[in-house]
Amino acid sequence: MANPSLLILAGDGIGPEVMAEVKKIIGWYGDKRGLAFDVSEDLVGGCSYDAHGTPLTDAAMAKAQAVDAVLLGAVGGPQYDDLDFALKPERGLLRLRKEMDLYSNLRPAQCFDALADFSSLKKDVVAGLDIMIVRELTSGVYFGEPRGIFTEGGERVGINTQRYTESQIVRVARSAFELARRRGNKVCSVEKANVMESGVLWREVVTKVRDAEYPDVALSHMYADNCAMQLVRNPKQFDVIVTDNLFGDILSDCAAMLTGSLGMLPSASLGAPMANGRPKALYEPVHGSAPDIAGQGKANPIACVLSFAMALRYSFDQGSEADRLEKAVEKVLADGVRTADLMGPEGGVPVTTSEMGDRIIAALDASL
Ligand code: IPM
Ligand code: MG
Repeated sequence: MANPSLLILAGDGIGPEVMAEVKKIIGWYGDKRGLAFDVSEDLVGGCSYDAHGTPLTDAAMAKAQAVDAVLLGAVGGPQYDDLDFALKPERGLLRLRKEMDLYSNLRPAQCFDALADFSSLKKDVVAGLDIMIVRELTSGVYFGEPRGIFTEGGERVGINTQRYTESQIVRVARSAFELARRRGNKVCSVEKANVMESGVLWREVVTKVRDAEYPDVALSHMYADNCAMQLVRNPKQFDVIVTDNLFGDILSDCAAMLTGSLGMLPSASLGAPMANGRPKALYEPVHGSAPDIAGQGKANPIACVLSFAMALRYSFDQGSEADRLEKAVEKVLADGVRTADLMGPEGGVPVTTSEMGDRIIAALDASL
């Protein structure tokens, strides 16, 4: 049987550095676990614009459609700020999400015991935190029409449109309920039904899906502004949060920071099952391209490594190997190994990006 295929799109800024560590780990799985992948690579974001004049070529898009899973590093950088909207690095990522129809974006926010002191919140508020944000990723105000900057009555007007169809809400709701069944069996659905019709429909459809298909899962509803407040006040009240594209973008950054470092959090973006039964899938760290530290060996590769763990779990049915990798990361953190972003007030000597990767591999070796 052919090996499972992976397309690596390392992207810009720290993307290639953190991805280099993931490549070592992919190699380890081939050598030590007999789990070989057919890995190909291409460009996305600013580097693709520099090489080809577009943030994602049609050829790279076609490769992404053909593989079992895509691993993405990060896109963007200040040198691209003045580019036309359609040429910005972010458009490459948005095109992948839209054309692969990756409607369910899983953003776990988990607080590692060894890092509970790093949160800006009190330790007891975040210790043991384990929430999953399910963000709708293909619709809403990110893609709704009409959009643009128009002239009306002698002045310009900027327009974006929040738009959700019932079927778009149904599919992401199902994804959240399915996940909840494998976790704490609780879903909190987040919108602003008090001011937005799209929120009224969202609440109604999510409730209908629960009542008809998931009566065993506890469902609550919350306005997005209150959810932001509750995430900071008492985040452990949540298990799975399901929300739209824009609220999910904002709330997942907030949830990420509860855990101490944005450098720690992975994500999976999943679509409908392909012919082989696996979901269309793209895995990427939640953090951005961090151009200010790129090329200095300071970046934390853990979010990207944990994104590969999610790929093992959700694309390749290798749940126990995903556990092994997550435990290796936990072990390294418990041993006090820290990249620069994880240096507490007590200081110490940070390891480089590549040393962190090597320590994770040593922990993987020790797990055999
Ligand atoms: C994210 C990012 C993206 C988004 C950007 C880079 C387009 O903030 O994945 O959260 O807004 O979705
Ligand atoms: Mg974001």
